[in-house]
Amino acid sequence: MEIIIQPDSRTASAVAARIVAARVREKPHAVLGFATGATPLEMYRALVDMHKTEGLDFGLVTAFNLDEYVGLPANHPGSYRTYMREHLFRHINIAPDRINIPDGATPDIPTCCRGYEERIHAAGGIDIQILGIGTDGHLGFNEPTSSLASRTRIKTLTAQTRRDNAAIFGGERKVPHHVITMGLGTIMACRTCLLLAFGEKKARAVAAAVEGPLTAMVPASVLQMHPQAVFVLDEEAASLLTRTDYYKWVYANKPDWQKS
Ligand code: GLP
Repeated sequence: MEIIIQPDSRTASAVAARIVAARVREKPHAVLGFATGATPLEMYRALVDMHKTEGLDFGLVTAFNLDEYVGLPANHPGSYRTYMREHLFRHINIAPDRINIPDGATPDIPTCCRGYEERIHAAGGIDIQILGIGTDGHLGFNEPTSSLASRTRIKTLTAQTRRDNAAIFGGERKVPHHVITMGLGTIMACRTCLLLAFGEKKARAVAAAVEGPLTAMVPASVLQMHPQAVFVLDEEAASLLTRTDYYKWVYANKPDWQKS
């Protein structure tokens, strides 16, 4: 695991955007996995900025989103399809037929989930999967006790996650109970996992994921088994880690050939 700690979310988002941009430049056909939530917004703004000012080209990129709510029409303001369109896709030159988001309105969830896995496979696998982390340590919508080997499937949200995500729905009661999410096994198959976490409210989950035991009770701890997992944190999200001096030294002294 590589732990990158930055003074604030703005500089952390810029670091993460540079990692993604470097991959797109070296591999124009890159397959990118996208996440939603408040955390990646500044990174998406930085990528849009690089597209506009530096000509960062998404024309051949394929996108797969982590998850989607079940039962919402695609244009619902709370859907992740709407989120992605508003915060990233409509600002860059990604081809609409290369955008993949689980269809939360499907009448046949098992077939939709199987098809999603097949599409990821057919695209050659995901090069970089961007991740946030839930306050309970979830990845995507893989709540605690999710199988560490799981694949894309339907999941039921915890009360905590429904509370955390209530704002956009105008109240907890309106948050769907069910979601389709890539599984932890799906995420583990991505070549690079790039997890962003900002703010004190993520500190406990980050510490448990990075320095705690590997356990399905903290789904993000599965990344301890990933060969290329990068955590980009602000100081607050890193505040409960015990080895911050070491992580900072490693990053500051990275050999040139390892830098992106
Ligand atoms: C939701 C998403 C996750 C995201 C998490 C954290 O549960 N499904 O992918 O990481 O929220 O969201 P935020 O970044 O708003 O804290």
